[in-house]
Amino acid sequence: MKVRKAVIPAAGLGTRVLPITKAIPKEMLPIVDKPSIQYIVEEAVASGITDILIISNRGKGAIEDHFDRAPELEERLLKGNKTALYNSVIEPTKLANIQFVRQKETKGLGHAVLCAKNFVGNEPFAILYGDDVIFNHGGTPVTKQLIDAYEKYGKGAVGMKECSLADVQKYSSMKTEHIEGRCYSISDMIEKPKPGEEFSLFSILGRVVMPPEIFDILEVTQPGAGGEIQLTDAMKELSRTKGVTGVDFEGIRYDMGNKLGMLKAIVDVALVHPEVAEGFREYLKSLEL
Ligand code: UTP
Repeated sequence: MKVRKAVIPAAGLGTRVLPITKAIPKEMLPIVDKPSIQYIVEEAVASGITDILIISNRGKGAIEDHFDRAPELEERLLKGNKTALYNSVIEPTKLANIQFVRQKETKGLGHAVLCAKNFVGNEPFAILYGDDVIFNHGGTPVTKQLIDAYEKYGKGAVGMKECSLADVQKYSSMKTEHIEGRCYSISDMIEKPKPGEEFSLFSILGRVVMPPEIFDILEVTQPGAGGEIQLTDAMKELSRTKGVTGVDFEGIRYDMGNKLGMLKAIVDVALVHPEVAEGFREYLKSLEL
């Protein structure tokens, strides 16, 4: 069955980038002039996704406003012949059929995904972590790379990259066996491994495509690392039973949930942004680093 639905969990507290996330959702933090979540929605759409559910919570209303129409503002821009600005305001409202549901308690990524059960129904679906922006300029978007793997091997697919040992211990570790090209068979995995528990340096980074059976597993998944219901724990169960495909994806990933990742994204996008690239490059050159 074709993958046409996606879930974007965006209900985390964003404690790593406090204090900015006290009143502003981290998904709304700008990469130059667009909020990071718009880039994520654009990736989903470019991958063939038509229906998106964003998991939000109290205080994340700005995300809903961003994907909604803004009649007063639109009228003002039209009257002032500011067509380019008008188009930029309209663009996010037309990208896809976007719906929202609230995760009522912040009980972890697995719990957030479980909130999408009714929306997804009995179809395979993509999960795009709301704080991971991934670009593959001119190439196949990462979500599409995973959808292709899902369709080819008929198993859930996870996007992964080799990370430093310190990062693996913060994220997850995959037990892998190479299949072909960038694809691996995964037979086990662990969330936030303690020293010595790692299977490999491959960690899941920000994108997965799952069969609907993941919901049955999530419903009985107990709280794991950090006392939260972990999506990795449910995917571990799937990898041990049906198997999961790991895709060493092509693309650059920015962790918008940490301060350095945020800065890297802004600098890289600014350097190719038609409006500011030249001035920004000049400015960077003028800095005596
Ligand atoms: P993270 O653990 O990176 O996000 O979850 P966080 O909890 O906001 O981070 P810190 O540690 O407090 O800074 C990965 C993704 O899962 C979502 C987050 O919004 C993020 O996009 N998430 C996490 C939820 O939707 N609900 C949760 O209960 C936890």
